[in-house]
Parts: sequence; C-alpha cells; structure tokens
Amino acid sequence: MEKILSMAHTILKNHLNNNSIAIDATCGKGNDTLFLAKICKKVYAFDIQIDAINMTKERCKEYQNIEYLLKSHEYISDIGEKVDGIIFNLGYLPTKSHTLTTLLPSTIAGVTKGIKMLNKGGVCVVVAYPGCPSGREENEGLMELLPGIDQHEFEVVKYEFINQVNDPPILYIIERISL
Ligand SMILES: C[S@@+](CC[C@H](N)C(=O)[O-])C[C@H]1O[C@@H](n2cnc3c(N)ncnc32)[C@H](O)[C@@H]1O
Repeated sequence: MEKILSMAHTILKNHLNNNSIAIDATCGKGNDTLFLAKICKKVYAFDIQIDAINMTKERCKEYQNIEYLLKSHEYISDIGEKVDGIIFNLGYLPTKSHTLTTLLPSTIAGVTKGIKMLNKGGVCVVVAYPGCPSGREENEGLMELLPGIDQHEFEVVKYEFINQVNDPPILYIIERISL
C-alpha cells in the first residue's frame, strides 16, 4: 500500500508538469520543495523558521526555480498568482523545537486561501499528523472545513490507514474541478 507522503507526491505528480507553478507551504528540510522543483517551472517555498529556509536552500541548491518566503502560509496569497499544486505537510521538524509546529488558525487560513488560488485541474494536498495535541486539533479543524467545500468547485478526498494504532498521518486531497 502506498504510504501517506508517497501518495501525496504521486497525486501532485499526476497534476503537475514543466509549465506548472506550485507551493510548498511548509518547506522544512526541503524534501517536498525538491520534489516539486524537479517537476515544475516555479516553486514558492514557505516556512516560518529561517533554519528551515536555509536547509531547503542547501537541499535544493541545484535548482534556480524556487522563491523562498520566510513567512507563515496564512499569507499564501501574497504570491499574487494562480497555482497548479500545493502541499501542506503539517507538524514540526523532527530535529527542531516541537513548539514551532503548524497550528490550527494559520493552517485553516492557509488552506482556505490556497485552494482559491488553484487553477482548474490543480490540486492541494494536506498531510495531517493527529498523533499529538496540536496535530489532533488541526485535523479536527480540517474535518470541519473540508466536508463543507462546494462539490461543484472541488473534489475532496481523505486517504487514511484505518487499522493502524497511534493515530497515523492522514492525507487530504482537494482538486479544483471548476472555476
Ligand atoms: C513537517 S515539517 C515540513 C516537512 C517539509 N515539507 C520537508 O519536506 O522536509 C513542518 C514545517 O512547517 C513549518 N511551519 C510551522 N508553522 C508554519 C506556518 N504557519 N507557515 C509556514 N510554515 C510553518 C515548521 O517550521 C516546519 O519546518
């Protein structure tokens, strides 16, 4: 069975090409940014930690198609253009302070604004980690927001392992089907 993050990448790959514009809303160590930079024309990489931005720059140093933004993804629409793919890989950097984790209000603001920026056929993937208190709260917030999204504009899918212990990650997929 395809694991959660791998499935998130597979979904993005199926929606992106070398003309695409994408956003990594939480660049962290740069794995997701690197993945997007290999496929897309342009990638915007957000993070609130300068350490994360610098790690991502180092990881992606061979790629010139990335713009780094040291700011919260609640300001995602500041980039001022439509996009084809977005990833929110929530949580914290495993090696860094767990207090610098994504939080419910900014996550909901970022996802709400981000999906409005999608071109038709574009996709936003959100990887949620409900195994810790703030992650559980974020996941509950997503489960309040996402089922209410207009089905004529977006298709929304939840992908999760339902027989695993310890609250495994959950993938949400939001695809824009009309403008
Ligand atoms: C699980 S890590 C992301 C993993 C990363 N995408 C990778 O490939 O290595 C979560 C990241 O979200 C960042 N973050 C937390 N709150 C944020 C916010 N409001 N806006 C943008 N980034 C945020 C953290 O600093 C951390 O680097």
